[in-house]
Amino acid sequence: MPCPDPAELMTWYDRQRRALPWRALPGEHPDPYRVWLSEIMLQQTTVQAVKPYFAAFLARFPTVRALAEAPAEAVMSAWAGLGYYSRARNLHACAQVVMTRHGGRFPATEAELRDLPGIGAYTSAAVAAIAFGEVAAAVDGNVERVMTRLFRLETPMPAGRAEVARRTLAMVPADRPGDFAQALMDLGATICTPRKPACALCPWRTPCLARPAGEQEAYPRKLAKTDGTLRRGAAFVLVRNDDAILLRTRPPKGLLGGMAEVPTGLWSDRHDPLRALDDAPTSFATSSPIFRSN
Ligand code: ADE
Repeated sequence: MPCPDPAELMTWYDRQRRALPWRALPGEHPDPYRVWLSEIMLQQTTVQAVKPYFAAFLARFPTVRALAEAPAEAVMSAWAGLGYYSRARNLHACAQVVMTRHGGRFPATEAELRDLPGIGAYTSAAVAAIAFGEVAAAVDGNVERVMTRLFRLETPMPAGRAEVARRTLAMVPADRPGDFAQALMDLGATICTPRKPACALCPWRTPCLARPAGEQEAYPRKLAKTDGTLRRGAAFVLVRNDDAILLRTRPPKGLLGGMAEVPTGLWSDRHDPLRALDDAPTSFATSSPIFRSN
């Protein structure tokens, strides 16, 4: 079986790359602000959902300085609807750190980027590679899928991610790290999809180790789900006479961090629906809850 050749992926990318608003055209210099903004927006959010927000956000905050100097409410309102609001708070904090500690220019290395608010392993590698041409491995779910199929990597995720990162890094072409990262994203999104991958169109169909075995969909390996405890709870939908609904914001970290939700009671494996009203948010009779219109 031949080794997968990064050059084959690059040739495919040169013909098939998706035209995306945050991407520099061939021969253009990528703008680190746009690259960073798009990578934060694309965390947990689809390309289609991000596109209109990206355009509106750039129109409102065209530079990292404009974003840093904007009031927090303006940033949150431009983000409203994208979800995972801790991203917006970190985005604003990150812009301010770039202004105060880096003189308004994004640092150019994966290690320095990693120190900024809201930037983790994936985003620091993606921005370093795409905006600054650093040889770095940006491993997200798409890349995990491509690499585990290509090499039939057996260690289940997330433990197997370190090996995926090593394999990816070893393939990054020194002259095109950013294009390589984006080519892997496009391959994972359009060809090497979770179900029914379009292997006949794949530039790496010959070296792929999962394909001859017909085992593409079995990768990445996942640990068998452990049975959790089933917990139940009550959710309270309070509708005011002008149709506004009572919402609260979830804690910034953890499950659905920073998202809006209707108030709920405690979640328990001994939930008693007959006592659910004990947890109802009745304090609105004496204080003023926040109502938001949709
Ligand atoms: N997903 C995450 N980052 C992306 C990018 N730069 N292009 C397309 N999809 C992505």
